Amino acid sequence: MYKILKKETLAPKIKLVEVNAPEICAHAHPGQFVVLRMHERGERIPLTIADSDAKTGLLTMVFQEVGKSTTELGTLNEGDCIQDIVGPLGTPRDIEKLDCVVCVAGGVGVAPIYPEAKAYHRLGTRVISLIGAQTKDMLIFKDRMEQVSDEVYYSTDDGSFGHKGFVTEVLCDLLEKGLRPDEVIVIGPLLMMREASRVTAKFGVKTIVSLNAIMVDGTGMCGSCRVTVDGETKFSCVEGPAFDGHKVDFNELIARQRRFLAEEKLAMEHYLAGAGGCKCHQK
Ligand SMILES: Cc1cc2nc3c(=O)[nH]c(=O)nc-3n(C[C@H](O)[C@H](O)[C@H](O)COP(=O)(O)OP(=O)(O)OC[C@H]3O[C@@H](n4cnc5c(N)ncnc54)[C@H](O)[C@@H]3O)c2cc1C
Ligand code: FES
Repeated sequence: MYKILKKETLAPKIKLVEVNAPEICAHAHPGQFVVLRMHERGERIPLTIADSDAKTGLLTMVFQEVGKSTTELGTLNEGDCIQDIVGPLGTPRDIEKLDCVVCVAGGVGVAPIYPEAKAYHRLGTRVISLIGAQTKDMLIFKDRMEQVSDEVYYSTDDGSFGHKGFVTEVLCDLLEKGLRPDEVIVIGPLLMMREASRVTAKFGVKTIVSLNAIMVDGTGMCGSCRVTVDGETKFSCVEGPAFDGHKVDFNELIARQRRFLAEEKLAMEHYLAGAGGCKCHQK
């Protein structure tokens, strides 16, 4: 059992929870994630480790309420417990001092990119962060990202803060002006990671994306999270979730990501109707 010690609403439908998980924090590295189950019959949901402190044992997760399980998670309050959290999972990012990295984050993707920006910043790498959201209200982790970045650029779809339009347009503009970072890291919706990878490929800039393929066990056994990278099948839970964005078959992944839409819709409808989702997910 993991007691929620802190809960914050960062933006509409985006929440932060902090739990005491010293055994996970002792081994956590940027780029890794956990799989949690709210209760014994809960669905297993992967969430990136948004922050961890090996000294205090505090583990931070940030999630967007997009369906039944994340909406249910959002109802927990400080003092409530999450049944189990498994991790850290996934291959840690290999982070070494570079001259310059660009961190491109979309929506809730800012939280997973934060540990990577922080790690590069600590090593003395110049960090340029590009943060995109639908509206000003949806921008999260602004202070944290500013603390670990040398420069931050914002964009919103409606122009309520920063550049009006997509964050990938800001990226394209900087590359057109001659910026040549050692690496661009992109975390956000699949369409945004595909577009960012298309842009950087034109300029020959190394690009790392973090794939949110549908995961079940998170340990390489079920095959649910398989993706095609450079023509080869990879299990993103153990061989990723970070991959070379120029080699990922995004179109296949986007199609695979939609394969349970009917069941997801039904589970949400049952949950909202007060039935608590399908029987296998009821407490
Ligand atoms: C490695 C990894 C790290 C992630 N980190 C974060 C994070 O830090 N914050 C965050 O808000 N979200 C994160 N996600 C996505 C998060 O796991 C899904 O939003 C969540 O599982 C949705 O569950 P649901 O029941 O609320 O929604 P559902 O209605 O079940 O699904 C909504 C959509 O979420 C995706 N999804 C559903 N189930 C899964 C699953 N088991 N694994 C992956 N995607 C799924 C699908 O695209 C689906 O269409 C991460 C995903 C992965 C794979
Ligand atoms: S989630 Fe089962 S193999 Fe990756």
